[in-house]
Amino acid sequence: MSAAAGPRPTRPRRTCHSVPGSSEKFLAKAPTLAADQVFFDLEDSVARSEKAAARARIIEALNTLEFPEDKTVVFRVNGTDTEFFYRDLIDVVEQAGDKLHAVMLPKVQTPGDIEMTDKLLTQIEMARGFELGRIGIEAQIEDAKGLINVEAITTASPRMETIIFGPGDYSAAIGIPITQIGGKPDGYPGDHLNYLYTKLVVAARAAGIQAIDGPYAAFKDEDGLRERTRLVRALGLDGKWSIHPAQIDVINEIFTPTREQWEKAEGMLAAYADAVAAGAGAAIFEGEMVDEANKKMAERIAGQGRAAGYAA
Ligand code: COA
Ligand code: MG
Repeated sequence: MSAAAGPRPTRPRRTCHSVPGSSEKFLAKAPTLAADQVFFDLEDSVARSEKAAARARIIEALNTLEFPEDKTVVFRVNGTDTEFFYRDLIDVVEQAGDKLHAVMLPKVQTPGDIEMTDKLLTQIEMARGFELGRIGIEAQIEDAKGLINVEAITTASPRMETIIFGPGDYSAAIGIPITQIGGKPDGYPGDHLNYLYTKLVVAARAAGIQAIDGPYAAFKDEDGLRERTRLVRALGLDGKWSIHPAQIDVINEIFTPTREQWEKAEGMLAAYADAVAAGAGAAIFEGEMVDEANKKMAERIAGQGRAAGYAA
């Protein structure tokens, strides 16, 4: 039996906040943070000697913490090329799978990484009597092989919910001469990641899933975080990681339309609906033509504004 087919719910993921599984204090703080998603990490924020203890701590946290209803709750396993992956997945999902919305898989290189995770999840769901196919998969693209295979990866399982860019590992793997995770090198006039982001977001849209940008490690540099977040939003991505609580409000703000933008989008939709009711195919709103195409553009912004709580 494979995962249940059908459209998956689209969860809000403007901010996806990383919480190292090594820290009881950080874990306890997770439900209070304003991030749309929190994920408990077993991978690169946890030292090798601490993996088993962190696994137990994450199971305990998932089973005891009370999360707001609309918070997306995820945990990150170690990669499929480590000795930790199978036990991370089996222990955490067996013991706390009913508390999870998705599993995040780092360093994904092939659709096989996703298929293996999907099949293991299905076995655990069957054994534990969990709803089949409910737990989603998030995949990180962090090297050349993963990027080349991204289209097969995004469609490898109906569980796929997001494709995520991992800037630190990617820069190291490709040979981009920087040491700041999420930073940019000297010497290139535009943004050196434009090709990558566009490839990722196109693969995500073709598969009907979300595209998320990874972390900006310089957590005291708010201007730098703003610049990178505005850039990825402009390219169509759905959200970005935060690694420190101070980054959450900045990212949420940038991924939320302003009230003015929301009002304009609602105005365009109303003008278009009136025009269609009167038998016309296009409307005029504030001196601009509105037809079926910008209706769709406006619908996206109107939906984001309503989700953020704007009301007439
Ligand atoms: N999740 C939850 N709470 C966090 C947090 C996180 N990622 N990072 C910091 N906090 C908490 C601190 O416990 C502190 O709480 P308090 O005010 O109740 O004492 C508060 O937020 C402020 O933290 P601060 O003292 O400024 O940061 P720090 O020096 O304790 O930690 C980092 C800084 C960068 C080490 C820490 O934020 C971190 O480990 N981030 C995650 C790294 C990660 O996940 N890496 C892997 C993915 S790239
Ligand atoms: Mg990584």
